[in-house]
Amino acid sequence: MTAHTDATTDDLLPEALLDFLPCATPDRWVEAALDNPALLLIDHAQCEKKAASTAMSLMFRYVDRPELLTKMSQLAREELLHFEQVVGLMEERGIDYSHLQASRYAEGLRRHVSRDEPQRLIDTLIVGAFIEARSCERFARLIPRLDEGLARFYRSLVRSEGRHFEDYIGLAERYGGKAAVAARLAVFAEVERELIESEDVMFRFHSGVPEVADV
Ligand SMILES: [Fe+2]
Ligand SMILES: [Fe+2]
Repeated sequence: MTAHTDATTDDLLPEALLDFLPCATPDRWVEAALDNPALLLIDHAQCEKKAASTAMSLMFRYVDRPELLTKMSQLAREELLHFEQVVGLMEERGIDYSHLQASRYAEGLRRHVSRDEPQRLIDTLIVGAFIEARSCERFARLIPRLDEGLARFYRSLVRSEGRHFEDYIGLAERYGGKAAVAARLAVFAEVERELIESEDVMFRFHSGVPEVADV
C-alpha cells in the first residue's frame, strides 16, 4: 500500500511514510484547502495545540515509561512551537483566531482504540502515528501550490512531523512488539483510508473529501 502521488510531493516525503499511509490525499481536498486559506490556518493552529495536549496526556497516564516521557515531552514542546508559529503567521495575514468545531478524523480513529491496557497505549500511539503521517503528507501536497512564506514554513513542518510519526511508531513497537503492532496498523489503516477517502460535510486540516456544493 502506498500513498504515492506526484514527483514533487514524493520528493519531500520519506519512503517509509508514503508506504505507511493507506492512500494519498484526494485532489478535491487540496483544492478546498487552497480555496479556504484562513480556515486551513485556524484549524492547523488547533491541530498543533491538540498534538501538544495529546503528548502531555500520555505523559500523565504513563509515568512508568521513561522513553515515552522523554519523547512526548520533546514532542509537546515542538508542537507548541509550531502553534506559536502558526498563530504568528495568522497575525501577519490578518486572520482572526476563532473557535472551530473539530473534524471527525481524530475521533474517528480514537473510537477504535482498545479500552484495556496495554493495548490502549499501543493503539493510542498508532493513532498518533497516523495523525502525524497524514499531517506531513498534507503539508507536502500543499507546498507546491502555496506562497513562498507558507511553503517555507510547511517544508520545515514536513521534517518535524515526519520525525514525530517515527517516534510514535518506535514507541508502539517498543511496548507492543513489531508483529502485534503490524496487525493493529492494518486495522487502523483501513479506518484511516475511509476517513480520508469518503465525503465529509466539514472542511478541516484532516477532513475527508469535501462534499460538492449543490448548484
Ligand atoms: Fe506540529
Ligand atoms: Fe507533530
